[in-house]
Amino acid sequence: MTDVPRIELHLHLEGAAPPDFIRRIAAEKSHRLDRVFDERGGYDFSDFTRFLQVYDAATAVLTTPDDYARLVTAICEDLAEQGVIYAETFVSPEFCGGNDLTAWRDYLAAMTEAAARAEARHGLRLRGVVTPIRHLGPERAKGAALCAAETAGAWVVGLGIGGDERVGLPADFAYSFDMAREAGLGLTAHAGEWGGPDSVRGVLDDLRVTRVGHGVRAIEDPALVDRLAEDGVVLEICPGSNIALGLYPNWKAHPIDRLRRAGVPVTVSTDDPPFFHTSLTREYDRLSDVFGWQDDTFRAINITAAQAAFCDAATRADLLTALEAKDD
Ligand code: ADE
Ligand code: ZN
Repeated sequence: MTDVPRIELHLHLEGAAPPDFIRRIAAEKSHRLDRVFDERGGYDFSDFTRFLQVYDAATAVLTTPDDYARLVTAICEDLAEQGVIYAETFVSPEFCGGNDLTAWRDYLAAMTEAAARAEARHGLRLRGVVTPIRHLGPERAKGAALCAAETAGAWVVGLGIGGDERVGLPADFAYSFDMAREAGLGLTAHAGEWGGPDSVRGVLDDLRVTRVGHGVRAIEDPALVDRLAEDGVVLEICPGSNIALGLYPNWKAHPIDRLRRAGVPVTVSTDDPPFFHTSLTREYDRLSDVFGWQDDTFRAINITAAQAAFCDAATRADLLTALEAKDD
């Protein structure tokens, strides 16, 4: 197994909550959870639509800044154990106080403190990417983007829309992305997961993102693959998520290695690991088994991730130093 330091750019905070964590908090609050878990205790869904519903139902248990602080603590410990030195996590002001800026500041303070404690303990650096939820529409997205713009800086480093890509058009969210860009935030958007190449083109043209969440269906259009390679658009690829949600039938069919060989800057993440029974370690193991990736490839994709991270220059320099230190 590779000991190359790892960087994860695409990890949903609520989606990283283990079932036991959600059950524990639900029990503390006597919150009933219906149709969330399967008989083995894992999250219960059969397709993406149902996944989003179960995600919402599990997240509804998290109702206070302290719940989010506990989640950050748990996730950082898990990431550090897997050799992750830097991660960006998607977090939605929609879930953290209903897009209310005052409430969001309280949640953010709790998460930032928890992340700082984890950094002191494990050395892992966690940053936040504010996430509007696409299927809730452009007006709700503006509320989330305003929270992002008003709190841009130390911990909040980006804006990245998630949710159901089949709803609406990228251009509907241009106002939110313009606001975030003006606030100095990095920009990414989920696209090319449930939408095809046009959906990826849409977020490049209308939202002017530098990274794309998933983006894998770009493989269906060679001209788009060339554009991604030429412009250096970084894909946050989560193969295990794509396979678990039925986008590809198995690992061999997944396009990550073809995209990489075509010169597209690819990175590897887990999306919502407990939902998909995965971890970064498992993703790396499968990539090694199926595509023969070795240390040189893992180092290259993590250098790509360091270069594409939305962190400040000093943090990026530290990440690149850590990756180079393993070079010899
Ligand atoms: N939110 C959490 N996981 C997601 C995914 N895979 N696609 C879109 N939105 C998400
Ligand atoms: Zn995602």
